Amino acid sequence: MKKITVSAPGKLMLFGEHAVVYGRPCLVTAVNQRIRLTIEEIDSQDFLLDAPDVGIASYKKPLRKIGIGDMPKGVKFVEVAIKSVLSAVKKEMSHGIHITTSSEFSSQFGFGSSSAASVCAVVAMAELLNVNLSQKEIFDIAYQTVLDIQGKGSGYDVAAAVYGGTLYFVIGGEKIESLTISDIPLVVGYSGVKADTVTLINAAKERFKNTPEVLEKMYTEIGELVTEAKDALLKKDFPLLGILMNKNQLYLQQLGVSIPKLDAMIEAANSVDAYGAKLSGAGGGDCMIALVSEENKQAVEKAIEKVGGEILSVKTNAKGVAIEA
Ligand code: PMV
Repeated sequence: MKKITVSAPGKLMLFGEHAVVYGRPCLVTAVNQRIRLTIEEIDSQDFLLDAPDVGIASYKKPLRKIGIGDMPKGVKFVEVAIKSVLSAVKKEMSHGIHITTSSEFSSQFGFGSSSAASVCAVVAMAELLNVNLSQKEIFDIAYQTVLDIQGKGSGYDVAAAVYGGTLYFVIGGEKIESLTISDIPLVVGYSGVKADTVTLINAAKERFKNTPEVLEKMYTEIGELVTEAKDALLKKDFPLLGILMNKNQLYLQQLGVSIPKLDAMIEAANSVDAYGAKLSGAGGGDCMIALVSEENKQAVEKAIEKVGGEILSVKTNAKGVAIEA
């Protein structure tokens, strides 16, 4: 009986959230905290799942019913991803499977655990079936899984899980460019508040429902800022990158997706001379990031903690999905 273990990284949005949903580019980095998934062939014709980190124990259904009917939240992404691989590669299973997932980070952080789990499931299943998939094919199958479940999303988190590193990304994988850079000196602060991505995308749209042209202009300006940030990142021009982060944050505030807690954490970081800071992801909670120098890293961490943020020890530019055993 075959057994395969795969891991994929979580992500942090660096620049361009929200605007990326409307065709503008974004910058995303993979982080060194990973989701791990083990897939094992079993004798019965069942699909079994244990995902203790999201409260799933001994979930079981007949293999032929995979992806059909109601699925608990913690099961959906893996189950639909497995079904998507099977239909993409047009193969049938000769055995049932038992999947176990574990995570190095909390699903509350907004590091993209669902997307990373979907990517792991696609790669593990392809390996089990002896099918070779390119990175783009893995991306396409996992992104379709996310769209089938969530309805909306650019797929940037899926790309980070597949390719790793730091990416310049356009919705749907229209452009996925790996940037050759080393670790980005970030402090990551968790707000303690859980955000819902689709709700926030819709809230930004709703806020500008009478002035859609203002929203479009803002997205275009964010897109331009992302291109500038990409250059600054490649040149390691951190002072400029910090200024661009603060500008990006102003747009996010105007979109109405920042919250007082995030604003306070960002202000705290800037008050002790971070190069710049912004929320990361959909907003409404999750995490903020601050770009720091070696000298002021500790001061920034302390300042964020002082206003109630939790510091997450995270390295950027981590490797993409990988078969471990
Ligand atoms: O909250 P997250 O990590 O799913 O990020 C949301 C970023 C958005 O641009 C708002 C959505 C997306 O899919 O790009």
